[in-house]
Amino acid sequence: MEKKNYRIAVLGGDGTGPEVVREGIKVIEAAARKSKFKIEWVNYDLGGERYKKTGEILPDSVLSELKKVDSIFLGAIGHPDVKPGILEKGLLLRLRFELDQYINLRPVKLYPNVDTPLKDKKPEDIDFLVVRENTEGLYCGAGGFLRKGTKNEVAVQESINTRYGAERCLRYAFEATKARNRDKKLTLCGKTNVLTFAFDLWERTFYEVAKDYPDIKTDYAHVDATCMWMVKNPEWFDVIVTDNMFGDIITDLGAMIQGGMGIAAGGNINPEGVSMFEPIGGSAPKYTGKNVINPLAAICAGAMMLDAIGEKEAARTIENSVEKSLTSGKIKSLAAGKMGLTTTEMGDLIAHNL
Ligand code: IPM
Ligand code: MN
Repeated sequence: MEKKNYRIAVLGGDGTGPEVVREGIKVIEAAARKSKFKIEWVNYDLGGERYKKTGEILPDSVLSELKKVDSIFLGAIGHPDVKPGILEKGLLLRLRFELDQYINLRPVKLYPNVDTPLKDKKPEDIDFLVVRENTEGLYCGAGGFLRKGTKNEVAVQESINTRYGAERCLRYAFEATKARNRDKKLTLCGKTNVLTFAFDLWERTFYEVAKDYPDIKTDYAHVDATCMWMVKNPEWFDVIVTDNMFGDIITDLGAMIQGGMGIAAGGNINPEGVSMFEPIGGSAPKYTGKNVINPLAAICAGAMMLDAIGEKEAARTIENSVEKSLTSGKIKSLAAGKMGLTTTEMGDLIAHNL
């Protein structure tokens, strides 16, 4: 059997990031041994601590090295002593833009035995995928101030939407819907009743691209209604595609209905380039170093990463082990400190059940 070797960059980052990434690597290594491939992990020390010490956020030399790896495994970005926005923009968003990771993929899946705040909803009801555009919209940083700091101040923040950007995201979403083979339904989430330029472009492009996918049902929901249905009838969704800002918001709602930040994973994907996978929960400073944070989201992000680099079997093995471990009843809760297991023990359990 052919043995493949991969080089993966590890950006543990801030807070509990390094702890959860450590467990993710443990599980991936165990899966790699079973599926007979090898990974060379290349560690990069980036984040709040480095910024405080040296003023560096993402040195150009690191960026050019990251452009050459097979994938990036990210822990968390965000430091209590660093003003909000600096690390997020300088590191996380910069990587998404520089590596042109134009898809932010966020599965919303309720695993067995996991508590959802939605009464009477079961794993079969909560199982959809959000495809968020990841390089445009309000995230471009277009705009500025006029008369800043005066009482006549003006702030403008523009949403940039290109035909090219919308189309490549929509095509990815149609392909993802086809590959899931569930309801074969793709919902465009927008706001065509108010954002009559941006979502007009999205909507026209959506129905044009849809012509190439006659087997996929198309559906549309405004973003506010999407939030409503995600709570009331999450079973209506198979795949949702949306812009950057709406995607940011609805995926936090998605994370909550699937059992919280302890299990929510995401991928920043450039299908033709270097992608980056992360637990979406943040750096959780108050739990740092206590061995109590839940590494499942990072482990699931690891599975997504293996799927993206082509190790589908290993990815499935990890997902199955997560499912099996949750079913076993050994995990009391997904919340930090309440799992009935330490961070390390959780990693061991998933690795053991592979
Ligand atoms: C996310 C995060 C980021 C975003 C922040 C940290 C910049 O909330 O990945 O969803 O807004 O995209
Ligand atoms: Mn977010």
